[in-house]
Amino acid sequence: MPRRYAMCRPEHFEVRYAINPWMDVRVPVDRDLAVAQWEELRRTYLDLGHEVDLVPPLPGQPDMVFAANGGVVLGGRALGARFAHPERAAEGPAFAAWLRSRGVDVHDPEHVGEGEGDFLVVGDRVLAGTGYRTAPAAHEEAARVLGAEVVGLRLVDPRYYHLDTALAVLADDDVAYVPSAFDDEGRAVLARLFPGALLVDEDDAAVLALNAVSDGLHVVLPAAARRTADALAARGYVPVPVDLSELLKGGGSVKCCTLELRG
Ligand code: ARG
Repeated sequence: MPRRYAMCRPEHFEVRYAINPWMDVRVPVDRDLAVAQWEELRRTYLDLGHEVDLVPPLPGQPDMVFAANGGVVLGGRALGARFAHPERAAEGPAFAAWLRSRGVDVHDPEHVGEGEGDFLVVGDRVLAGTGYRTAPAAHEEAARVLGAEVVGLRLVDPRYYHLDTALAVLADDDVAYVPSAFDDEGRAVLARLFPGALLVDEDDAAVLALNAVSDGLHVVLPAAARRTADALAARGYVPVPVDLSELLKGGGSVKCCTLELRG
């Protein structure tokens, strides 16, 4: 089934503030390389038969390439984004306006919520992260706006500050995650909902193996996540590695760059 994704070219990408442990303002960024790697990701989606819509990047918003944070879209309705950090605040209205221009019915959020960074749709449910960015109150807001069951999960490792860095949706009833990113309660909930989930080890999680995008068969994931790619293949998926090393300097990879437009 072809998917529709929104992406935002990293024309203004840089690391000039640090709002997650991956970001270091002293480490230089090669923007041309970032753009080339991002183009490769876009090409990968197109080659897999998916559609990619482009959100115009705003000057002065270096993290806008991480389009997943721009909202969560389900059945033509969206909960827009309200960012935890002032550095990204302007992105919220920009993504909302763009989604509206595509005919999506966008609800402007009352609470801090960072879109598909923390809200992941798995079948009929939405898994929702909290702990670093998205507020628990936004989970209720998402349930109301999207009309779906929302399951809250608390993140406890600052390297996995968004749910999409700790858990990947593989299919409507299948996920992969790194258990140590969650509190005891979150681990128990995940074990109950997905007893057969793929558990990813610390080393692969630390190259953002879980920041992956699946169409139910192909799983596009960071190239460095070799063991996870092998495990996915053994599970019947087709791993599609893409190198986004330059964007990792901003704390994001494949999934962060991809907002799914559902319905
Ligand atoms: N620098 C960005 C931030 O810290 C990275 C966002 C990554 N996006 C994601 N969906 N995890 O907000």
